[in-house]
Amino acid sequence: MSAAVKRSVTITLDGSNKSASLPLLSGTIGPDVFDIRKLYADLGVFTFDPGYGQTASCDSKITFIDGDEGVLLYRGYPIEQLAEKSRFLEVCYLLLNGDLPTKEEFGKFEKGVMRHNMLHEQLRSFYNGFRRDAHPMAVMCSVVGALSAFYHDNLDVWDEGARRIAAFRLIAKMPTIAAWAYKYSVGQPFVYPRNELTYSANFLYMFHAVPTEEYKFNPVLAKAMDLILILHADHEQNASTSTVRLAGSTGANPFACIAAGIASLWGPAHGGANEAVLKMLADIGTTANIKPFLDDVKAKDNSTKLMGFGHRVYKNYDPRAKLIQKACHDVLNELGIKDDPLLDLAMELEQIALSDPYFIERKLYPNVDFYSGIILKAMGFPTNMFTALFAVARTVGWVSQWKEMMEDPQQRIGRPRQIYTGSPRRDYVPMTERT
Ligand code: SDX
Repeated sequence: MSAAVKRSVTITLDGSNKSASLPLLSGTIGPDVFDIRKLYADLGVFTFDPGYGQTASCDSKITFIDGDEGVLLYRGYPIEQLAEKSRFLEVCYLLLNGDLPTKEEFGKFEKGVMRHNMLHEQLRSFYNGFRRDAHPMAVMCSVVGALSAFYHDNLDVWDEGARRIAAFRLIAKMPTIAAWAYKYSVGQPFVYPRNELTYSANFLYMFHAVPTEEYKFNPVLAKAMDLILILHADHEQNASTSTVRLAGSTGANPFACIAAGIASLWGPAHGGANEAVLKMLADIGTTANIKPFLDDVKAKDNSTKLMGFGHRVYKNYDPRAKLIQKACHDVLNELGIKDDPLLDLAMELEQIALSDPYFIERKLYPNVDFYSGIILKAMGFPTNMFTALFAVARTVGWVSQWKEMMEDPQQRIGRPRQIYTGSPRRDYVPMTERT
């Protein structure tokens, strides 16, 4: 534990002479945490925190979020600066290794990643097992999980070199896996990666190129893709990252752990929200329907949510949402789309929601998913591919967090406890005696 122990928290149990003094740990920035590892031994009680909203699950140096201020730092660098000045593969190096690379370090890293971007030819036939209309996230879960069948025997997760190659393979192969999931769904031939292209340009190429004509590269779209990947790269201990950490804590194969992260990201409350936002906007249709829709959301007697709004941590604007909204305008201008009805509707919806007491009182603001679908749709991605693109970006975050956990000297298998409210002990009753 690298956090400094500064003060302690004393807890006493009412009606008993028991008390526990728990160390109060301070990190570099952010709230202090009190260390409850001795709580059960001292007081015979557990803590209760469904959804882990108030629980620090680990000591991490990778990403910091201040939800009240709308701050997001990757290894200390503000997301706004990385979005403006960096590129996705440099952010991958930063998240994995902790510092920005020198020119030489980056050159070696880029070569190391790009040379792993092909898939084993036997994995191609894996796609044929799916129906053409299979959801790309189902394909991603399966194909990434299948990589553990190709890279298992010689993969010692406790060996630093093996972890590094697994990280390279995952970061490099995800764009190929996602692009091939799309090509398979539309019945077009798979396009192989090209190592002379940048990571983002190569992804767009594999996704959009067809053998019948020259592929026209668009640097503005490649830059927008790179930005989207940077903004989705990591986000502290979110649901899918916690899934990867928990799976990895058992020593499981990292490809299987990332497949678990993909499954968790798929949910509409998490990474599946970008797809859900587009469906929501289509259902609303016109600005005239915004008010009745929001009345429905506020009615609360149904599960209608304003998708792309709200966040467990951000109680202010998600800084990524602002950056994506700006990129929306750049991409639409580049594509000559003067006014995109979806973007206009989303901006109108945002304005109305942000002036509505229901959303203001609950500190519900647009999150990263509110605008990301609009820009992805404008770039020619089908709605059901949006979460797969999120998974491509988040793989570096998942892998960096998995690596950090595996290298943590205090790493142990994750095993939460519970409060049991079921039946007290009782004896078995034979069926003949049951009424
Ligand atoms: C991502 O964790 C991460 O970092 C995730 C992520 C990442 O990069 O990994 O940032 C990516 O998953 C972004 C979130 C994408 N999901 C959505 O946009 C789906 C819509 N959002 C909600 O489902 C919700 O806001 C969550 C799931 C994101 C957060 O849920 P919480 O923290 O459990 O929120 P809550 O239930 O405590 O909300 C407090 C109140 C409740 O009302 P009351 O019971 O107090 O009356 O706000 C309401 C909620 O009902 N509320 C919403 C709402 N979100 C919360 N009401 C309407 N619409 C919403 N979107």
